[in-house]
Amino acid sequence: RRRQMQRALTLRHEITSIMRRELDARDFLDIETPILTKSTPEGARDYVLPNRREPGTWYALPQSPQLFKQLLMMGGYERYYQIARCFRDEDTRADRQPEFTQLDVEMAFVTEDDVMTTIEQVMAPVLALSPRPVPATPYERLSYAEAMSRFGTDRPDRRFGLELRDVSHAVSGSDFKVFASVVDSGGAVLALNAGQVEMSRGELDGLNSVAQRLGGKAVAWAFVTDEGWRSPIAKFFNDSQRESVGQTLDASPGDLLLFVADAVRSARTVLGGIRLELADRFGLRDESKHDVFWVVDFPMFEQTDDGGWTPMHHPFSAPLGDLDGDPGELGSRNYDLICDGTELGGGSIRIHRADVQEKVLGLIGMDLEEANARFGFLLDALKYGAPPHGGIAFGLDRIAAMLAGRDSIRDVIAFPKTASGSDPMTGAPSPIDDRQLRELGLKY
Ligand code: AMO
Ligand code: AMP
Repeated sequence: RRRQMQRALTLRHEITSIMRRELDARDFLDIETPILTKSTPEGARDYVLPNRREPGTWYALPQSPQLFKQLLMMGGYERYYQIARCFRDEDTRADRQPEFTQLDVEMAFVTEDDVMTTIEQVMAPVLALSPRPVPATPYERLSYAEAMSRFGTDRPDRRFGLELRDVSHAVSGSDFKVFASVVDSGGAVLALNAGQVEMSRGELDGLNSVAQRLGGKAVAWAFVTDEGWRSPIAKFFNDSQRESVGQTLDASPGDLLLFVADAVRSARTVLGGIRLELADRFGLRDESKHDVFWVVDFPMFEQTDDGGWTPMHHPFSAPLGDLDGDPGELGSRNYDLICDGTELGGGSIRIHRADVQEKVLGLIGMDLEEANARFGFLLDALKYGAPPHGGIAFGLDRIAAMLAGRDSIRDVIAFPKTASGSDPMTGAPSPIDDRQLRELGLKY
């Protein structure tokens, strides 16, 4: 009954109305896809349902309509969209719910530019619902490599500075063994200039627990003064090393410098996280407008902890480069739309050849037998001949939360789940009775 909730649900309705209007004007068909289905690979855990007719077999709820929309392209429906429910059994956070809604779009005979331009035309009037100004289209494109090196993440919040810098060259010759040995072993020392901020010793030590929460080890700090650095690690550096760091970070007296030494990937995650933490703590974000841009030029794969490869997006995205070469060097035809540090949507141009699809599945450790068991229907369809195609999906809940100025998507969902995935109103999930269990073959 609260006004705020009514406003949020009305806004949600306005958003989907605009999406439907814009897509309809561009000849997109709204097509529904199954909810009782088979596992779809978006990288989360599946929700599964027991099948009464054949105990021991299970339906999975879709993590997205990804494979169905690709099959629709192969079936000759050149422009598809759906306001689709998706189900992912993953830890609930401010921007994640176990069931959520996507604006799901797919187009045939397109390139990245076609998809991105069409989507900009659909999204511009949606984002214009915000009271705050949004940049004009075409939205800026930032490469993945640049996002990672400047902000430590592929969905940077650029409404404030504090960009990351690599100071490895300046500190590698110092007497500080922690830094020197990280650089020697191929890692990096990354640093940022937090500016003229006051932080107590206790608060600075507290940053170590932020680092550890993000899988890192520690954060080192230094206040720049006219007499040099005030820092527990100052003694390890000579004048020219301090000067070189200061220059790289554009430091002046009174500035607080923060350092993280680690393998590059982890150092970026940790310092990128510290950057956001500082923005929260000191209110650094410019909230007067929205920052909207694409991230492009993604790598195809990320290395897993056990030395294998996992797709940056999903294994149906088209790779760029030599499939017989180093998988780490492959690019992919992905694009993400970022707004104010949140990924509103992501998609890609897809693989449309069976041999390429089989090879990519092979690179992520899936042999032909497993691939056929899981997505044989897609591989078969590709063999009949598929048009080049691509698309994108947006998190409707995230768009609504952003436009409503809410921090959590729970505030824009009619009957949201709690952090533990339960519905406090109906009490779901809840036990079922013995008769139902027996019928489902789950109890004898
Ligand atoms: P992806 O997994 O990136 O891509 O999801 C697309 C968008 O959906 C939103 N989203 C979520 N929103 C709320 N709760 C969640 N648990 C959740 N998970 C994802 C995000 C995200 O950007 N099939 C591909 C799209 C494609 O390739 O076309 C897909 O689902 O806003
Ligand atoms: P230690 O040698 O562990 O006592 O650390 C000395 C100082 O270096 C402390 O201020 C730590 O926070 C800092 N430190 C240790 N490891 C790292 C690291 N990997 N990156 C940045 N600072 C570190």
